[in-house]
Amino acid sequence: MVRQSSLVVVANRLPLDDNAAPDGACEWRRSPGGLTSALHTILEQTPATWVGWAGGLGPAPALPDIGSLRIRPVALSETELRGYYEGFANSTLWPLYHDAVEPPVFDRDWWETYQAVNVRFAQATAEVAEAGAAVWVQDYHLSLVPRYLRALRPDLLIGFFLHVPFPPPELFMQLPRRIELLRGMLGADLVGFQRPQAAHNVAQLAAKLLAAQSTDDQITLADGRQVRTGAFPVSIDVAEMQSLARRPSVVTRARQLRRDLGEPRRVLLSVDRLDYTKGIEHRLTAYSELLRDGRIKVRDTVVVQVAVPSRERVDSYRALRDRIEGEVGRINGEYGRVGEAAIHYLNQPFDRAELAALYRTADVMVVTPLRDGMNLVAKEFVAAREDGAGALVLSEFAGAADELQDAFLVNPHDVDGLKDTLLRAMRAEPADLRARMGAMREHLRGHDIIAWARAYLTALDDSGRLANQLPLA
Ligand code: ADP
Ligand code: F6P
Repeated sequence: MVRQSSLVVVANRLPLDDNAAPDGACEWRRSPGGLTSALHTILEQTPATWVGWAGGLGPAPALPDIGSLRIRPVALSETELRGYYEGFANSTLWPLYHDAVEPPVFDRDWWETYQAVNVRFAQATAEVAEAGAAVWVQDYHLSLVPRYLRALRPDLLIGFFLHVPFPPPELFMQLPRRIELLRGMLGADLVGFQRPQAAHNVAQLAAKLLAAQSTDDQITLADGRQVRTGAFPVSIDVAEMQSLARRPSVVTRARQLRRDLGEPRRVLLSVDRLDYTKGIEHRLTAYSELLRDGRIKVRDTVVVQVAVPSRERVDSYRALRDRIEGEVGRINGEYGRVGEAAIHYLNQPFDRAELAALYRTADVMVVTPLRDGMNLVAKEFVAAREDGAGALVLSEFAGAADELQDAFLVNPHDVDGLKDTLLRAMRAEPADLRARMGAMREHLRGHDIIAWARAYLTALDDSGRLANQLPLA
């Protein structure tokens, strides 16, 4: 008999490895990505079911519960992985939703597969949701699930949250299947975004494409059904990062890292998935020109770039990796010396403690995406700096910039501006840095991941009928 839950989270990825140990034991895998990082904390201790893909191909593995969280895997075939995940999700929607910094690819076969996989996710969800349950669908991979699910189970309370930006109408209008996609998302009772502008964009599109009556927080569809919308900026487990960064072993490791880097005057750090939205190439150009112009010296200023490979079978990601590695090699060849690299380039995934040690080692954290839904790395850095030191250089085009206004904000497309801002951050007075960091830390304390989930789920359940069943009540 299928076990059912009063809260079901549906996301493309499950947060655990697809090859659980032979004894059935399995542990949370913190895959490098904002979504699983964010949801991990909330669901670890919640009686809920997570519906998602376990990362492999072929039949879904039987996966054990994780504490009180049940896991319902969804299988993907090789063709589905290509058409749904690598194709429509990551070669059409991902670039389109990130300002088309890489041209979106429109392939008609991918759409068929995307629909079929969204149907499968909706069916799996319908099986595990209790009568009247709350279902929280996550991100652009599953835009059609709210509508399919409503058709299967009209009794459910359905939420949809988009972790990535929602583009301006002019860009969204390029999408051949724009009407179906919009209808799919608006199958939810509440559609949440990272920034208010996204809700505004959807309201405009709903009026134009669906003849809906729209405001920035409510859309009334032609059939009279009402969909609420709003901004719910996602966050991190602030307490976890703070306590990690405070651990004596992490403090010791941070000192060791600094020694290993040759005790430079300044360490500049970036931590990204290897993605063209993250602005890594613009950043490398800025470093390279600062070195060329003699405004920084390798011995004084060391750059650490963590760039964990992502979506490696997608052409644009492979090409990006080649370009970045070529450029890192060129810069190191030109400006490094024996035992003194200009850029320490690391492709590996790290555990949370090592990330905390890296954050503590940095004098300047450089987070300069060309477009980003939120960027949790920026928030993790702030949470890790309980010494009150360190500068954050942050792109205006990251959702985090709305909240972390005391960062050194920058337009990453403006390479001269980026160079100047990097220098300003490197040369800032300790008192100025302390004041900025204090203000950002204060903000994060009141806006952690629990606050995010509580705000979203309370808004979803506006009638209060699920109040006692939902987590974080
Ligand atoms: P995105 O969701 O686009 O990947 P975010 O910055 O919002 O970007 O989230 C990235 C998450 O992945 C963060 O929680 C970060 O700590 C984690 N992460 C990034 N790089 C690594 C790495 N090399 N090893 C482990 N975790 C990583
Ligand atoms: O935060 C955006 C996002 O696409 C998440 O949905 C996803 O978990 C993360 O980036 C990492 O990407 P992927 O799941 O493709 O490895």
